[in-house]
Amino acid sequence: MRILLHRADGKTEPWIKDFAKYLPEAEIEIWHAGEKNQACDYAVVWAPPEAMLPELSTVKAIFVTGAGVDALLKFSDALPPHIPIIRLEDAGMAVQMAEYVTHSVLRYFRRFDEYEAQARAGTWAPLPQHHKEDFAVGVLGMGVLGTRVLAALAPFGFPLRSWSRTEKSMPGVQTFTGADGLDTFLRGSRVLVCMLPLTPDTSNIMDRTNMSKLPAGAYIINVARGAHIAEPDLLTLIKSGHIAAATLDVFRNEPLPAQHPFWQEPRITITPHISALTLRRESVQQIAANIRKTEAGEQVAGVVNRTLGY
Ligand code: NAP
Ligand code: GLV
Repeated sequence: MRILLHRADGKTEPWIKDFAKYLPEAEIEIWHAGEKNQACDYAVVWAPPEAMLPELSTVKAIFVTGAGVDALLKFSDALPPHIPIIRLEDAGMAVQMAEYVTHSVLRYFRRFDEYEAQARAGTWAPLPQHHKEDFAVGVLGMGVLGTRVLAALAPFGFPLRSWSRTEKSMPGVQTFTGADGLDTFLRGSRVLVCMLPLTPDTSNIMDRTNMSKLPAGAYIINVARGAHIAEPDLLTLIKSGHIAAATLDVFRNEPLPAQHPFWQEPRITITPHISALTLRRESVQQIAANIRKTEAGEQVAGVVNRTLGY
């Protein structure tokens, strides 16, 4: 069995070693632009270059080394529809998301961001406390990662809400679906956490209209994709005070350009797309298990619905 591997960072050796450990029967072929590659059974990619499409069109399945598949699905029209695209499910990312989002929610609820600024200015001044009943946390997307985030927040006693495409049920979480549910969901969410896949339906979902529906003094945490937020609208609403602050891990252009106005806005906290990193060993283990199942004709989890885009 032969696997075609593409790594934009060129760091392929550790992946080859992990595949040798967890799928020793596989030969790993590294994709290089302009070179003739041997025919492969499977491909393992994250954001493949367009030049790789001919090789991606002849494999039995394409494995994506992340939860989101937008960087591959932008080429969906060029990929034969019978080739399954299989994403990572959790693979060590869910607990990282839980850490990141819990930290951010507690930072705003306990006003640590304001105390950090006060400390830098040498100011000793207790601030009024926020009340939990005014601090509902709304999670857009209740999939693998959103569900884990909600479970992590539950013990703190925040009112919890979620919005998804299909009906859900989770003890202690008020659930909303569809366009009608979105309006009510937004109006009651003091903290809005985005955990959606990027699809034509969710692009720009946090635009001026929708962010204006959040209660005054709301907080935004975006750990999904930069294109979920209309960036100029967020700046306008932060400057007006309607949005109190935002923590952003993802951006339309990454790395965030040096001239981007977000860098100058103290109420925006920026991290470099690290909220849930792909863990190589866990990822290779999951992909190896799924390849074995595919070879055995069994069903695998994480198959992307190309029509829905996630
Ligand atoms: P997932 O399991 O597929 O969950 C996606 C959720 O979004 C589901 O609940 C789905 O609803 C909901 N959804 C999709 N389209 C919708 C729509 N049009 N309206 C309402 N709800 C919609 O995905 P996941 O594994 O949790 O990952 C979520 C995203 O996190 C990824 O796509 C990726 O963009 C992002 N991510 C970011 C990082 C990072 O480091 N920043 C790391 C990993 C992942 P249903 O349940 O009803 O289908
Ligand atoms: C990272 O952004 C992922 O989608 O896994």
